[in-house]
Amino acid sequence: MNIGIIGAAAVGETLAAEFIRAGNDVLLSNRRGPTSLTTLIHKLGPKAKAATLAQAAACDLVVLAIPWINVAQLLPGLPKWQGRILIDATNTFLNYLPDYKVADLGEDSGSEIVARLAADAKVIKAFNTLPIAGFFNAVPDGYRRVTFLAGDDVDAKNSVKGLISSMGLAPIDLGPLGRGGRLMQLRGVFNGVELLAAVDH
Ligand SMILES: NC(=O)c1ccc[n+]([C@@H]2O[C@H](COP(=O)([O-])OP(=O)(O)OC[C@H]3O[C@@H](n4cnc5c(N)ncnc54)[C@H](OP(=O)(O)O)[C@@H]3O)[C@@H](O)[C@H]2O)c1
Repeated sequence: MNIGIIGAAAVGETLAAEFIRAGNDVLLSNRRGPTSLTTLIHKLGPKAKAATLAQAAACDLVVLAIPWINVAQLLPGLPKWQGRILIDATNTFLNYLPDYKVADLGEDSGSEIVARLAADAKVIKAFNTLPIAGFFNAVPDGYRRVTFLAGDDVDAKNSVKGLISSMGLAPIDLGPLGRGGRLMQLRGVFNGVELLAAVDH
C-alpha cells in the first residue's frame, strides 16, 4: 500500500519506518517541501519518497502528524478526500513541554474537528496515545502492544486495524470517533495508557 504522511518529525518518521518494515511504501511531506526531506528519505530507504502535501494527501491512506495549532490552516487546502482514510495522530497541544498547554475544546473533540475540516475523509484516530517510540518498544515474547483506534466507518476501521496488526501491534477499537476519540485524546482515560495483549487474545 502507498501511505501518505503529512508531517515528518517524530511521528512521521517513526511511522514511516514502521510502515515500510511492514511492507508498505510511504510518501512523506512537510511544510517546507520535498527538498527539505532528502536526508530523511535517504535514511528510510527506497520505499520512502519525498512528496508535496498534495501528493501525500492524495494517497488512499494518509496520516496527519503535525502540530495541532496548524491543523485548521492546513486541512481545507488539501485535495478533496472522496472517502479516503485519514488517520489523525495529533494531540491537541497549544505548546509542547516544558510549558505545555492543551487546547480548550469545550464539548468538542480533536478528531471531530479534524473530521469537519477534512470533509468526506474517513477519519480514524490512532497512534496518539503514547510517545510515538513507545508503540514500538520491545515486548515480552507472546505479547503485542495495544494500539487504540476510533472511527465511524467500519471498512476504514478494518483497514487501519489490518495495518496496525501488520506492524506487530494489537488494535483495540474504542468505538465511534466522537466517543472513542475523547477516550484517546489528551486527558482522556486511555491517553498515556500502555497495555500488552497476549498474541492469541
Ligand atoms: N512526538 C510524539 O511522540 C507524539 C506522539 C503521539 C502524537 N503526537 C502528535 O502528533 C503530531 C506530530 O508530532 P511530532 O512530534 O511528530 O511533530 P510536531 O513537532 O508536532 O510537527 C512537526 C512536523 O509538522 C510539520 N508541519 C507543521 N506545520 C505544518 C503545516 N502547516 N503543513 C505541513 N506540515 C506541517 C513540520 O514540517 P516543517 O518541518 O517543514 O515545518 C514537521 O514535519 C502532533 O500533533 C503531536 O501532538 C506526537
